Amino acid sequence: MTNNPWTPIADADAIDEGQAIEVVVGDLILAVFRNNGELFAMDGMCAHQGGPIAQGKVEGGCVTCPWHGWQYELATGIQTINRQPLMKTFDVREQGGKIEVRIA
Ligand code: FES
Repeated sequence: MTNNPWTPIADADAIDEGQAIEVVVGDLILAVFRNNGELFAMDGMCAHQGGPIAQGKVEGGCVTCPWHGWQYELATGIQTINRQPLMKTFDVREQGGKIEVRIA
């Protein structure tokens, strides 16, 4: 449990179902997704060579990097081949018409 504050990053309607946006929070680039009605936030730069994860294809609860195809679970940041948590994930919620993230 963390006491870090929630940071508003976008209006709630900025991310349609199955879509993602890239946002900058402090010195971080995040990819924020809406998949099956749920929001997910993770590192915006792929752990492989920094590809833009927010531009990846989302399917089956995973995102596939558009550059070389590394795939990560949205909920955990685990890379699906080597099962390592290569991508950091962040708390994200919808509150008062805004999407907010919490940076640990
Ligand atoms: S940069 Fe993402 S798979 Fe290579």
